[in-house]
Amino acid sequence: MKKSALIIGAGGQDGAYLAQFLLQKDYKVYCGVRRTASADHWRFRHLGIERDVELVYLELAEESNVARLVSRIQVDEIYNLAAQSYVGTSFEQAIYTAEIDAVGVCRILEAIRNYSAHTRFYQASTSEMYGKVMEVPQSETTPFYPRSPYGVAKLYGHWITRNYREAYNMFACSGILFNHESPLRGPEFVTRKAVIGLASIRLGRMEILNLGNLDAKRDWGFAGDYVVGMWLMLNAQEADDYVLATGHTRSVREFLNAAATCLDFELEWHGSGESEVGTDRKTGKTVVAVDAAFYRPAEVDLLVGDATKAHQKLGWKPQTSFDQLVSMMVEAEVARLTGPHA
Ligand code: NAP
Ligand code: GDD
Repeated sequence: MKKSALIIGAGGQDGAYLAQFLLQKDYKVYCGVRRTASADHWRFRHLGIERDVELVYLELAEESNVARLVSRIQVDEIYNLAAQSYVGTSFEQAIYTAEIDAVGVCRILEAIRNYSAHTRFYQASTSEMYGKVMEVPQSETTPFYPRSPYGVAKLYGHWITRNYREAYNMFACSGILFNHESPLRGPEFVTRKAVIGLASIRLGRMEILNLGNLDAKRDWGFAGDYVVGMWLMLNAQEADDYVLATGHTRSVREFLNAAATCLDFELEWHGSGESEVGTDRKTGKTVVAVDAAFYRPAEVDLLVGDATKAHQKLGWKPQTSFDQLVSMMVEAEVARLTGPHA
């Protein structure tokens, strides 16, 4: 019989790639999205899957909404990708972030426990939980030290998932995913913001790209590879928690250098901290500047993951290199900016 899955938070970057992957595996895919005034499911359109998924309205703040839907559709698998996922905003909206990213997870687990006990559950946990890292690289056994209201809320989501697995024998997994990007990344995250900015500058449509901390280091992979790992977790023999990461880390500055190279210009760096600027080597013009408004009250300086367990137990490995990821993002952005809908 055809398998079925509900993706909660399906309208986001990972949701779209996961929906596409599950459709390729011949699943019936329910895409849980919020009702908004401007329902523009551009990511489904981009992947050409808008007619193949069944949209269902789902608001994680609304307990009875979650319970009714989970009870009605009786799916084999639920992937919870919904979150207030922007770390910066979590400092301004800490309570809302906890409501969705922490308590929201418990609402889903309760609905499964009460109305759909056979359903397997995936929780989108995050490397942000390692925060002020206690060891390098970070693995499933590294102690957590979150540095943002987002990280703290996600830590609750992580532990409540594990708790329901142990207490009620539920098939509930937590994927501790390191940063993963794509042409479908939200424009406020640093990789996509950098690519939009540098491509616009290259096309003469923008003068300067303003960013925050250029020294932060992240383990950046391709989102399309990571959704495969989510599915492998729910289709393993036993429920468990896994890190998904590339094992390589790069600074924001290094990401900018790589993106600039793809756009045929070379950045030169001058100064430090708030006075640092990146200039175009050919013209000498400043194209990147630091704006302290983008600094965070507490920062995560270095993330680099060890995905050995996922490799050994699930056979998962990232397929896309850092350079391939950057050039894929740059190419897509240039096409967007110069295409018929620009
Ligand atoms: P994203 O693009 O921001 O997508 C998040 C989705 O959650 C959006 O579709 C959003 O809906 C939905 N959502 C937010 N609040 C909701 C609510 N109250 N009720 C229902 N849906 C809600 O994030 P992503 O990059 O795809 O990440 C997917 C998940 O993985 C998130 O939980 C994120 O925290 C986690 N994660 C991401 C990364 C990464 O590097 N991408 C790494 C580790 C963990 P709208 O479209 O209506 O806003
Ligand atoms: N967004 C943003 N904008 N970040 C900037 C900027 C800027 O202008 N300038 C510097 N940065 C730095 C941030 O301070 C951070 O250290 C780093 O770039 C990455 O920022 P984001 O791209 O916003 O990602 P994140 O690492 O904070 O969070 C992402 O990854 C987590 C996994 O580690 C999100 O996808 C989270 O949802 C996810 O859990």
